[in-house]
Amino acid sequence: MSQMENPIAIIVHGGAGNIPPERYELVQTGCREAAARGWAILAAGGSALDAVEAAVQAMEDNPAFNAGRGSVLNAAGEVEMDAGIMDGATGQAGAVTLIRHFQHPISLARAVMTSTHHLILGGEGAEAFAQKMGFEPVPNDFFITERRLAQYRRRIQAASADTVGAVALDAAGHVASANSTGGVSFKLPGRIGDSPIPGAGFYADDRFGAVATTGQGEHIIRAGLSFLVMRLLAEGQPAPEAAARASDLFRIRVSEGEAGWIVVDAEGNVGVGHTSQNISFAWRTSDEDDFVTGIA
Ligand code: GLY
Repeated sequence: MSQMENPIAIIVHGGAGNIPPERYELVQTGCREAAARGWAILAAGGSALDAVEAAVQAMEDNPAFNAGRGSVLNAAGEVEMDAGIMDGATGQAGAVTLIRHFQHPISLARAVMTSTHHLILGGEGAEAFAQKMGFEPVPNDFFITERRLAQYRRRIQAASADTVGAVALDAAGHVASANSTGGVSFKLPGRIGDSPIPGAGFYADDRFGAVATTGQGEHIIRAGLSFLVMRLLAEGQPAPEAAARASDLFRIRVSEGEAGWIVVDAEGNVGVGHTSQNISFAWRTSDEDDFVTGIA
């Protein structure tokens, strides 16, 4: 452990699915940059909530990922994004769905948490709220990259690979979780996945740790995947073991379906698990001098 008295940790994911080997370097670099953004905040004594928001913002700005700019297109050839965030200290959460015109859905989710009495805002209401809060709208085209347009035109099912998330523990002992996604390609307009649903796409509780999931949202919601992992943490499993054991619990409820998850526990251990072919991730804890990146 470093000189810091209390442990800190962050782990980010860049999506679960079938990641082609030629994209390994790109997504690992993106994950590492995002983790580094969050780590800098934690190392300076900042909050887990700020760290996960900053990490996810970095990935929303990176067109390599299926979140923010670079999101997959729906059946109508447009981008609709979901995001959610949770503060393990207070148990408060915020989420947005069907966002079409704002660059950082994760920051809208945080604004819902801190500036409304609601937990989830969707569609036009969420966008009206964003404008009222001073967020600058951009055209929907802003989010559409050449790669996603080519996939759409060639009817390539990119599924939900490359969706993004982060969980962290700060030096004050607080955890937080954040997730952001363009969802699944060719989804029906109006479809909402797991990413903005607490207990499915994300969860954070200072007593135990925090979880963020990725993969096929319909399966993740049905399984309550984040709660499944939280249950293992609550039983006293450290994050690596909880992450490893979660596949069995997921499979009891959902026999098919690709999913992945990242975990931090209250002691600052991290873990990653998946039923999908791959999941990309990067982490750093007080036990490491550098970032660990990988495609599992
Ligand atoms: N996990 C992303 C989605 O299904 O929307």
